[in-house]
Amino acid sequence: MAARKAMVAGNWKMNGSLELVEKLSDAINNAEFSEVKIVLFPPFPLIPAMIASGVNTGAQTVSEHTSGAFTGEVDAELIKQLGANYVLVGHSERRSVYKESNDVVAAKFARAQQAGLTPILCVGESETERENGQTEQVVAAQIDAVINKLGVAALEDSVIAYEPVWAIGTGKTASPEQAQTVHKFIRDKIASLEGNLAQGLTILYGGSVNEKNSELLFAQTDIDGGLIGGASLKAESFAAICNSAKGTV
Ligand code: 13P
Repeated sequence: MAARKAMVAGNWKMNGSLELVEKLSDAINNAEFSEVKIVLFPPFPLIPAMIASGVNTGAQTVSEHTSGAFTGEVDAELIKQLGANYVLVGHSERRSVYKESNDVVAAKFARAQQAGLTPILCVGESETERENGQTEQVVAAQIDAVINKLGVAALEDSVIAYEPVWAIGTGKTASPEQAQTVHKFIRDKIASLEGNLAQGLTILYGGSVNEKNSELLFAQTDIDGGLIGGASLKAESFAAICNSAKGTV
């Protein structure tokens, strides 16, 4: 069984600058976070600077194609060549704004792994879906799209991020108990297919995580760290969140 390690990822979305790369990397490099895997996801043009700063880096999205007439898209191989190691797939903003279906997300997951990138598969329900009691059904379908395409073994070299859509950028964090319930559901679902893989799988929580609520969230048995949006743009907040992940897995 692969041992899990606490992980804190920062998704900058369409924010940030070269100055911010310097600030955030200084905050990370000047602290002792060896127990915590930290990865930052800046916009594409900032990836080389982030890598040069010594911080683990990922891309926020990737094309499901390898090359061709896909204006504006970026191939996984190029991201890997730059020295990035991770990519987000299925972020709720990609699903809702850019209409990426479960099948497209699964194809992006496949292409990322083919190029040697570790995909972070983002899943989560909308407010209406939660109110209708469909949380588990929605999350299961999002994960099954990958399992049905690639087999459960593909999840071995991946990370899952549970990000309830209603908690993203709203200040409405899932309670530690609400988040733990879904994380346990995810781990149990995968364990029913492949027990050791499920125990080794890193499952992050995302949605309005900040330095005040991260400790309680990360203390939950099946929460292995966080995928942070807004608070990853503030060096002090992000460093405090990384600190709160120490010793939690
Ligand atoms: P916030 O932390 O700003 O709610 O964003 C979460 C997120 O979408 C990270 O991918």
